[in-house]
Amino acid sequence: MKKIIDIIVGARPNFMKVAALFAVAENFPSLELRLIHTGQHYDVEMSGVFFSELGLPAPVKHFGVGSKSHAIQTAEIMLAYEEWTDKQRPDICLVVGDVNSTVACALVASKKKILIVHVESGLRSFDRSMPEELNRIITDNLSDVLFVNEPSGVDNLIREGNSPDKVHLVGNVMIDTLLAQRVKAKKRKKYLEFGLEHKEYAFVTLHRPSNVDDNTELAKIVDQLLWLSDIMPVIFSLHPRTKKQLHKMKLYSLLEVVESIRLIGPLSYIDALSITDNAKVVITDSGGLQEETSVLGVPCLTLRNNTERPITITKGTNTLIKSDWGLFRRLISKIEEDEYLKDSVEIPFWDGQTGSRILKFLENI
Ligand code: UD1
Repeated sequence: MKKIIDIIVGARPNFMKVAALFAVAENFPSLELRLIHTGQHYDVEMSGVFFSELGLPAPVKHFGVGSKSHAIQTAEIMLAYEEWTDKQRPDICLVVGDVNSTVACALVASKKKILIVHVESGLRSFDRSMPEELNRIITDNLSDVLFVNEPSGVDNLIREGNSPDKVHLVGNVMIDTLLAQRVKAKKRKKYLEFGLEHKEYAFVTLHRPSNVDDNTELAKIVDQLLWLSDIMPVIFSLHPRTKKQLHKMKLYSLLEVVESIRLIGPLSYIDALSITDNAKVVITDSGGLQEETSVLGVPCLTLRNNTERPITITKGTNTLIKSDWGLFRRLISKIEEDEYLKDSVEIPFWDGQTGSRILKFLENI
């Protein structure tokens, strides 16, 4: 009999992560992977496009939860997943990352005594004002098997009292997907569509509440982007939350009128990879982009005070800006002069084989 594994996805970064599991699933015939979509993200460009591009199967179940307050969203996912597991109990519930869908399904599975596997476990920003940090701590606490991306995650989990038997450093599923899709992205040359040149532009993405829901912070960031646009063209991919806030604060029109700034919507995975790989610098608050730029060797300036992915700083191409705009401008000058000395370095286990390591483990569990 096959071992049934519910693979939970809900929000944008989840899709690229689970794609690494589905890509190798046929090598593990004793496992049945069932894709469950909570519907936390629902727009085509936030969800649907990733299914077609990454070759993901259609979900066996879609909860259609949509955008709500954190409490309502989490509760509705819990209700839906509880009902699902009552009828279609899996052997394993596999959750990825740190979004509300992750913690909601882990909580349901835990009370139903379904084995919980957390992929991308152990990451800690030590900043409990981030909803994701709370989701990480709770999910790790509930999980039976903890698959970790980088050594800091192992240290964090052991320090929090987890038995070493539960903790497995397996690498990064998101990088599996990047390595698998890089050739396709190289051919795409998406930047040409925006009149940009290879390694001559900045790619910007922002969506963290601490940056975009805070009026003062967002106004400061817009100021810096206006400064930057005099130095190099800027392409800014807007998350729906960010677009809404820029309009609300009347900042959108300040950016829109600048010829060297391109304001665009959310990008598909291959398009984003193409734009990232060809950028001179990436400016972001995304977790995934800190990792992706490190592997691609693209300088990354992260507009946050902390990161749960410290290896991107010690071994990768990332620097935290911590609202230090003097530092931001100095680093932009260094990047301009080709003196930003960071280059991509190999990170252990970020080798494209993480999905296989995970499924092999689950086959034998
Ligand atoms: C969520 C995750 C975050 C992840 C991010 C990636 C949590 C707590 N946060 O944040 O960790 O980095 O996804 O994007 O789970 N919206 C749309 N269309 C959609 C989805 C959302 O227009 O398909 C709009 C809605 O107005 C919504 C807002 O975006 O209120 C924010 O969406 P939400 O899912 O609540 O959080 P994210 O900021 O996307």
